[in-house]
Amino acid sequence: MGKLNPTLRQLRVFESVVEQGGFTRAAEKLHLSQPAVSIQVKQLEGVVGMPLFDQLGKKIYPTDAGRALYECAQNIFAQLEDTEEVIDALKGVKRGRLKVAVATTAGYFATRMLAAFAGRYPEIIIRLDVTNRLSLLEQLDENAQDMVIMGEPPADRDLLATAFMENPLVVVAAADHPLTRCERIPLTDLQDQRFVVREPGSGTRAAVQRFFDAEGVSMRFAMEMSSNEAIKQAVQAGLGLGISSLNTMELELETGRLVVLDVVGFPILRYWYLVQRSGKRLSPVGVLFRDFVLSEGAQAECGLTSKKC
Ligand code: PGA
Repeated sequence: MGKLNPTLRQLRVFESVVEQGGFTRAAEKLHLSQPAVSIQVKQLEGVVGMPLFDQLGKKIYPTDAGRALYECAQNIFAQLEDTEEVIDALKGVKRGRLKVAVATTAGYFATRMLAAFAGRYPEIIIRLDVTNRLSLLEQLDENAQDMVIMGEPPADRDLLATAFMENPLVVVAAADHPLTRCERIPLTDLQDQRFVVREPGSGTRAAVQRFFDAEGVSMRFAMEMSSNEAIKQAVQAGLGLGISSLNTMELELETGRLVVLDVVGFPILRYWYLVQRSGKRLSPVGVLFRDFVLSEGAQAECGLTSKKC
């Protein structure tokens, strides 16, 4: 047994002093008196055998020992939170925190899916990040998310991925575009057209580029945009053709503001995957979410994916 033996209460008070940047603000936050906070920190300094703060002017800064102890306190509290979730799950309680990141393009259905999940488990607090494929891969590398929803994950990474829903990419045009009247348009006919495309780093962009390269057809870009909404608006305004997931265009196709072109080789059929780092132990809340997405999430979206192109 080591000699460093602080109480959890001392660590909580100390953590708050670091985060609030002072004894008075920590006292307010913790609903304690300022002397009570000072006593806890003094006692903790006694346990550690070193000062935990330097005072410069009116401000206090953690010393090296203070910073080391702060990191240790954060780890302890994070572990306690995880363990609380496990114990809650054993008791049958469905509560905890969930960190999910989804591809920009998946944001359309993923938010609805998360709303259904939140409706079923109101005590689970969800943090959602919507970003492009490149950033999702970085977040997986950094272990920053419990789970990620993205297009086909790269095979050279140690990831656990399960496909749960179709993600067909289609070519769309404004309703008055001459190509809307054509059938079986050969891909080579699109060489003269200009496209409004997603930014480099987007999974949609990479898939489209791969498809054109494989067919030996070059693409001319009218403009690059990082938002699917902006692309739809630009295509409607006649800036060029767009290629996007059918999952993002429900409304525009229904109202006829955009039209899916009948291009040979389209739709490019892709899938949405639920992805986690392999070897990562999912929290009980993570397991609930995975089961929800794989079973009910896919069914909830059948209407979207079954649409004819
Ligand atoms: P994106 O990803 O939103 O980054 O284009 C979607 C996909 O990979 O299909």
